[in-house]
Amino acid sequence: MNAQKQFLSALFLMLICVIAKPVSAAAAWMGEQKSSVCTGCHGPNGKSSNPQRPNLAAQQSEYLINQMNAYKSGKRNNPMMQSMAINLKASDIENLAEYYANMPPVSSGGEPTLAKAGQTKASMCLGCHGPSAEGNGQIPRLAGQHPSYLERQLNYFKTGVRKNSHMEAISANLTDADIRELAAYFGSL
Ligand code: HEC
Ligand code: HEC
Repeated sequence: MNAQKQFLSALFLMLICVIAKPVSAAAAWMGEQKSSVCTGCHGPNGKSSNPQRPNLAAQQSEYLINQMNAYKSGKRNNPMMQSMAINLKASDIENLAEYYANMPPVSSGGEPTLAKAGQTKASMCLGCHGPSAEGNGQIPRLAGQHPSYLERQLNYFKTGVRKNSHMEAISANLTDADIRELAAYFGSL
């Protein structure tokens, strides 16, 4: 590659960075403006103090978009969230996802003895959920999530109340003790 071409491609890359950053910052800002209705349940900055209501902070944006659409369509059944999601436009959903994905992660903590036992079983989850359970794209972050929320979702997958072929297959092999321990471990991260 000659010097001129190199210079032009570097310039092009710089331009993409300069343009892309403000676009996501603007989306997060617009999401923040929409988030006041969520704060009552999911806490300020997506840090929920009620263990039945998930933290949204640092959750994967693609996953958040998927789940809000799943509530909206009724694929994921929860009357509280359905009544919230039904009023959101596609652009609201994208902006809210961008806002929460950019909030700093929180750790809910987990009962230490259970968490220790859970750690020995967690390797089967990390291939998909990421080496630090930080999630990836459509696969959610589990790290720091409220254990009782995680436990409830694992039981929903196990009983088919919540639909996802991967998670239904995996949870079918988990005992109640496995679920409690894994939830405590991931919550403690
Ligand atoms: C009245 C309380 C309430 C309000 C207000 C509320 N939520 Fe929720 N939200 C919940 C509960 C409870 C759950 C867990 C439901 C379940 O088990 O599926 C949940 C779950 C979620 C999830 C799934 C998280 C995950 O890890 O899978 C997302 C995303 C979400 N809410 C986003 C929002 C957004 C965005 C708003 C504001 C527009 C909002 N919620 C407002 C109670 C609420
Ligand atoms: C083959 C990939 C894969 C493996 C392995 C896997 N998961 Fe998942 N998991 C997913 C996907 C994909 C979702 C999102 C499902 C959806 O869209 O509703 C998910 C969702 C979840 C949720 C819901 C989180 C939330 O915020 O609502 C929990 C809890 C969970 N997984 C726990 C586990 C645990 C514990 C293990 C190990 C025993 C595990 N997963 C192994 C792919 C996987």
